[in-house]
Amino acid sequence: MDDLIKQAADDLAAARNVVALTGAGISVESGIMPFRGKGGLWEKYDPMEVAHIDAFMRDPARVWSLLVKDMKETLDTASPNDGHKGLAKLEAMEKLSTVITQNIDGLHQAAGNTDVIEFHGSFARQRCMDCNQIYDTREVDISEIPPRCSCGGILRPDAVFFGEMIPQDAMWRSRQAACDCDLMLVVGTSAVVQPAALMPVYAKESGAKIIEINPEKTPLTHEISDYLIMGQAGEIMNGIMSRLESR
Ligand code: OAD
Repeated sequence: MDDLIKQAADDLAAARNVVALTGAGISVESGIMPFRGKGGLWEKYDPMEVAHIDAFMRDPARVWSLLVKDMKETLDTASPNDGHKGLAKLEAMEKLSTVITQNIDGLHQAAGNTDVIEFHGSFARQRCMDCNQIYDTREVDISEIPPRCSCGGILRPDAVFFGEMIPQDAMWRSRQAACDCDLMLVVGTSAVVQPAALMPVYAKESGAKIIEINPEKTPLTHEISDYLIMGQAGEIMNGIMSRLESR
């Protein structure tokens, strides 16, 4: 593993434009559950019952009480870990330009990254299903479920449910960023949800080097990634950053 950390520091030092694609795994060390695998959210719930737009439309109160309420309680107090902070340092060093994230937790912005494409939207905002008014999630009163807008409409997370389209702007900008980078860091994603998992493929096709950081192999490993550094995002990013900063 040490050899790969050194290799990653060398590759980052040589790179001109780094883009990161992140998934739920980068936020695990901040106390946020991933979706898949052991201890994942989909072990507890059927995603079609709690994360599909049809389920929300059918019974918003049920989806709010099963999933969204707990999510609000966790995300209201979560803070960035060394994985997020490492990516923010890479931006401060003018290496990394953009983070494409599938996460809705806002932790990349909290760590200091300024160009974050929220591929699946954001949980920081709740949107009225009637008048589209936006509320800051932390200010939303959840003593009544589902919470409502001042117009009486039901509030929903401003995030992408299964069965909904990826915001066009996020899709277009992500593809552009993937095609323009010369190194992509793929951190903490199972890379099974499309179209997000295509971003490393676009990057590879445009000639970029792909480095994965994940405790497990993914469908990208040995196919699209140049190498996988196996481990927790925070610990691995710390190792890479201390090598890079001491050069
Ligand atoms: P997943 O839950 O599918 O995958 C999490 C990945 O993180 C797995 O590959 C784990 O091995 C890895 N992992 C776990 N702990 C880690 C750690 N400490 N450091 C680094 N990696 C770790 O999450 P995503 O790939 O983000 O979509 O899932 C993609 C999409 O599926 C989500 O955005 C969400 C979900 O359904 C929507 O809600 C639309």
